[in-house]
Amino acid sequence: MKKLLEMLSAELSGAFEKAGYDGSYGRAVPSNRPDLCEFQCNGAMAAKKVYKKAPVEIAKDVAAKLSDSAVFSRAEAVMPGFLNLDLREAFLTDYLTQMAEDEELSVEKAKEPRTLIVDYGGPNVAKPLHVGHLRAAIIGECLKRLGRRLGDHVIGDVHLGDWGLQIGLIITELKKRKPDLVYFDPDYEGDYPEEAPFTLADLEEIYPAASARSKEDEAYREEALQATVELQQKRRGYYALWQQIMRLSVADLKENYRKLDVTFDLWKGEADVQDLIPVMVDQMKKDGFAYEDQGAWIVDVAEETDKKEVPPCMLLKSDGASLYTTTDLATIMDREQKYHPDEILYVVDKRQDMHFIQVFRCARKTGLVPDTTDLYFLGFGTMNGKDGTPFKTREGGVMRLEVLIEDIKNEMYKKIVENRGTRDEDAENTAAIVGLSAIKYGDLSNQATKDYVFDVERFTSFEGNTGPYILYTIVRIRSILSRFEEAGGDPSSCRIGKAASPDEKKLMLQAARYNEALSSAYAEKAPHRICSYIYELANDFNSFYHEHRILAEEDAEQQASWIALLVLVRRILLDAIDVLGFSAPERM
Ligand code: ARG
Repeated sequence: MKKLLEMLSAELSGAFEKAGYDGSYGRAVPSNRPDLCEFQCNGAMAAKKVYKKAPVEIAKDVAAKLSDSAVFSRAEAVMPGFLNLDLREAFLTDYLTQMAEDEELSVEKAKEPRTLIVDYGGPNVAKPLHVGHLRAAIIGECLKRLGRRLGDHVIGDVHLGDWGLQIGLIITELKKRKPDLVYFDPDYEGDYPEEAPFTLADLEEIYPAASARSKEDEAYREEALQATVELQQKRRGYYALWQQIMRLSVADLKENYRKLDVTFDLWKGEADVQDLIPVMVDQMKKDGFAYEDQGAWIVDVAEETDKKEVPPCMLLKSDGASLYTTTDLATIMDREQKYHPDEILYVVDKRQDMHFIQVFRCARKTGLVPDTTDLYFLGFGTMNGKDGTPFKTREGGVMRLEVLIEDIKNEMYKKIVENRGTRDEDAENTAAIVGLSAIKYGDLSNQATKDYVFDVERFTSFEGNTGPYILYTIVRIRSILSRFEEAGGDPSSCRIGKAASPDEKKLMLQAARYNEALSSAYAEKAPHRICSYIYELANDFNSFYHEHRILAEEDAEQQASWIALLVLVRRILLDAIDVLGFSAPERM
């Protein structure tokens, strides 16, 4: 079904035309004075110049044509030329009834679905996930789900960091520690052992040790760089070690993402495009884009209008190794060949801004993608602690993601037990569900591009603009509906009636905006808009609930209408949190 505002605008356009003005002035917007009216139209103000007439006169002409409108119960011209508008009860009731009857809640699906690849997550193998990876996972997952909800064909790709210096460092350190391992014997031709010569815990200790040493020891660093090149050339023993690293690490990553309710369609990584790199670089050389500079191969991407320096894109270093930029370019080529995406959306830390400027320019310049393919970098801000610096453990170290999830769950557990007054069995489970909502909503309710403060106390609160508050509202509605059922009622046979109070109408109007809320969030790649929408919806529901004694209502028809509205509001909230990436417990 069409969005509410579109329907109102269509009605207004008709009235403008009937009054002799251009229909395009008839655009409805939500009222910026909700105390005066529900919607407004500012078109007469804009039409003033063209018709050389006082705007209020134009507005009066239009209002006259709306006197018997089926949509507006009131259309009033006010100084200096606005139209103040209220909806007819029957129109709103119809709109909501159609929503309630539609499995999709009247959310419009794309008429021509686009293919979108969302590149998010971006973990690096052999390194544990830490809080710095949280935003990529949460925001990317939400945009993927949102795109699907609106009918696009969305492919989520984790894009593992699995082919760079970090692997060279691990190989080098391992070689120092266990030089006799068969993986290091260049003459060995047999099969390599099935069992890895390290555990995941070993890897997590080896990498930081190697990284620290490479910063102090130049020769060691050289060795690691050399190992990286040889790995990229698929030296047998190194490649086998790499496969072992991948096996352990990817299983662990999958488990961690599962805890976050984040899933990827593709588990591809930098290494997957290794074979495309020579082809791509050769083409760029042949086309005259890539040139040699002190042994390295580079492409210029600076533009005259640049305000800050945009360094050239380096494809191959002088030792022949490929870089982060190279694999990203080859990945674009691969994605183009396999999926012909209309858009590739990268959800990555905004500090990688320059990297993506270079990659996108190079991809455009060299024709890796057609001009019609959008390359979009959604750079997100940092998740900070209360002190305004990146979130850390109490001891000041990097916080692992699983530790954060566990901490929040424990915090939630305390609150739930306190709330219930008992420690029943499912409290643990509920704490995990609600805890995830606290983390995800806390993140998503902030504008993605900005830094934000991860405030455990606030995010886990049952009150205010938080995930637990939204879930609490859903659970509250559910409990009203169950009590209605226990008393013999059947919510599914209830129909929405006319609003009986201003609070009810406010709730109805807000429910009717769902379609619009999702599509504007998608158009702006702004999950926080969905959060603001459901926060308002939850608030409107709670005000309504406090003003009406739903279960004690004696007029059966009135009660049924309220129950039907509750069913609808609950469905909207559940649908929206699913898009945000979390779910609701049975009770809290
Ligand atoms: N692994 C990278 C990092 O940790 C993020 C990858 C983002 N995606 C991409 N296509 N570059 O910085």
